[in-house]
Amino acid sequence: MTYKAIQLSKRPNGDLTPDIFETVELETPTLEEGQFLVKQTYMSLDPAMRTWLNPREDSYMPPVQIGEVMRSYGVGEVVESRNPDYPQGARVIGTTGWAEYVLGNEEMQVVDPSLDPEALLSVFYVTGLTAYVGLIKIGRPQAGETILVSGAAGSVGSLAGQMAKAEGLRVVGTAGSDEKCRWLEEELGFDKAINYKSDNLALELDQACPNGIDLFFENTGGPIQALAYKRMNRFGRILVCGMIAEYNFEQPAPGPNWMDINLKGLRVEGFVVPDHLDKAQEATEALTKYVQNGQIRYRTHVIEGLDSAKEGINLLFSGENQGKLLVKL
Ligand SMILES: NC(=O)c1ccc[n+]([C@@H]2O[C@H](COP(=O)([O-])OP(=O)(O)OC[C@H]3O[C@@H](n4cnc5c(N)ncnc54)[C@H](OP(=O)(O)O)[C@@H]3O)[C@@H](O)[C@H]2O)c1
Repeated sequence: MTYKAIQLSKRPNGDLTPDIFETVELETPTLEEGQFLVKQTYMSLDPAMRTWLNPREDSYMPPVQIGEVMRSYGVGEVVESRNPDYPQGARVIGTTGWAEYVLGNEEMQVVDPSLDPEALLSVFYVTGLTAYVGLIKIGRPQAGETILVSGAAGSVGSLAGQMAKAEGLRVVGTAGSDEKCRWLEEELGFDKAINYKSDNLALELDQACPNGIDLFFENTGGPIQALAYKRMNRFGRILVCGMIAEYNFEQPAPGPNWMDINLKGLRVEGFVVPDHLDKAQEATEALTKYVQNGQIRYRTHVIEGLDSAKEGINLLFSGENQGKLLVKL
């Protein structure tokens, strides 16, 4: 039997274009002892994918090589198995690839088949763990503090903001459209959401954060970065989660001067989720509680069919995704 997969055929130059990917037909493997085959049903599209396409070797993951199937996270069903830990019919979540079928790996987790795969990828797994680690473990938020979340209407940002609200913080978010800002304020309970495309971003930030910023959950980079940095309070924490505004640039923009870090005792900490897998269990428990208490809502943006990933990934960069971007296979 053959199946469809999408390989990287050349490295991107700036913006992602579909011609860097090639759809191929591959033979399903004959399983050896210990192996299992997964039919992928949902695939996550993530901004990090853009960074995996750069040839740098000093990042947290090796680059996807030319000729390799594009890397992704996803959910699927075990359709054939020679591994008793992953029996036929089990639902699994893990690192997959842009492919209809993938050979399973031992890092895949078996999940309760009654759980909605869209919820799993939107609220738990990488997305939820990222928000949890950044906010709770690295940010160490205190009730009464003010947090600014950039990329607040995105999957990670919306979770981080809602968790901060549940922890008693004043929560301010930035997003790229008035519709997203309304969703943040009216549906998710953010105290204030600002459209970062506003001509008055600095003034709006001052008004939204009258007591300055204690935590800055940074998902984007771009103009908000310098404005937030100048408004940090003493002993503030900057949680560097992502820099999507910079991923398509050959040369990222220069960062702020270190003087404020020194004089205000700021802590600036970058993190990537693969370094924090030991916290997955506690993150799942904490997120489950927030969900059960009605403190977390999410929305998904689902596109259909494997090939839709090639163009669809750009929805993340244009900001047209409304919620966690998923491909349904
Ligand atoms: N550290 C980690 O382990 C980890 C794990 C997962 C994700 N991340 C990072 O977290 C960030 C959010 O990821 P996500 O998966 O939750 O994606 P997402 O926020 O659901 O989608 C990406 C969003 O980024 C915004 N964006 C795109 N270009 C922008 C620009 N030039 N300036 C400002 N905003 C821009 C768009 O929203 P607007 O309409 O608001 O512009 C878009 O909807 C990314 O930087 C990602 O790399 C990090």
